[in-house]
Amino acid sequence: MILFECVSFRYHQNSKTSFSLKEVSFELQKGEVVGVIGSNGSGKSTAAKLASGLIKPSSGRILVDGVNISESRISDSENKTIKLRAGIIFQNPENQIVGTTVEEDLAFGLENLQVSNSEMRAKIESISKRFGLFELLKRPVHELSGGQKQMLCIAGIIVMEPSWLIFDEPTAHLDPWSRRDFWVYVKEQCKEKNIGIIVISQLPGDLDEFDRILVFSNGELVFNDKSSLYVRPDFESIL
Ligand SMILES: Nc1ncnc2c1ncn2[C@@H]1O[C@H](COP(=O)(O)OP(=O)(O)OP(=O)(O)O)[C@@H](O)[C@H]1O
Ligand SMILES: [Mg+2]
Repeated sequence: MILFECVSFRYHQNSKTSFSLKEVSFELQKGEVVGVIGSNGSGKSTAAKLASGLIKPSSGRILVDGVNISESRISDSENKTIKLRAGIIFQNPENQIVGTTVEEDLAFGLENLQVSNSEMRAKIESISKRFGLFELLKRPVHELSGGQKQMLCIAGIIVMEPSWLIFDEPTAHLDPWSRRDFWVYVKEQCKEKNIGIIVISQLPGDLDEFDRILVFSNGELVFNDKSSLYVRPDFESIL
């Protein structure tokens, strides 16, 4: 379970800047695909970074599978486990690619996890085939298209098999076929591996895919319910 307990966050702790997230509380269960929506600057990416342990709350607590990830004093090895627990795929794929070639990039996370060479080769082959990257394994990453880069980031996190997957606008650069593939894969992973999936999206077409929706507005959580209930007459006004 991911549990946010009255979480607030501001990027510049010592200044008087306003909070990017204000007293946000919710819980997410494994096996559900949760959508996060809201206008630009409403706090969606901030909430995602907090859930993946990249940033710590200014106040409040975050528990991921029972582990309090909001403590500021946390060891490197614990940090690694947190990242493994909740893998995040960023809004901008450029920020996430570390390898020179597609193959190197896919290997990077596995090397960190000290996976053996033979197991690594098998995992890279299977994930690259699943995401249409097999033919591109030797290709320098700077030669990939935007959509291919996004697929590489998605594959690079999934290959590490985290218990939670957080996608920040993953389908923005994808063509409609890749987008359909993405959703098929997400549903498969969610049910077969019983992982929890959070997808930030601004695309109305994605709304039907979610089991539940969280809506952020000005750093506050203003809606948290079944996605079907989101079709409300006042829905524009709460964004
Ligand atoms: N690195 C940062 N430093 C300072 N302020 C930031 C930083 N990142 C985001 N913010 C601020 O925090 C607030 C929430 O930003 P966030 O990126 O979480 O919004 P978002 O809902 O993901 O928006 P978008 O739809 O544009 O991706 C905004 O007011 C933004 O200006
Ligand atoms: Mg964002």
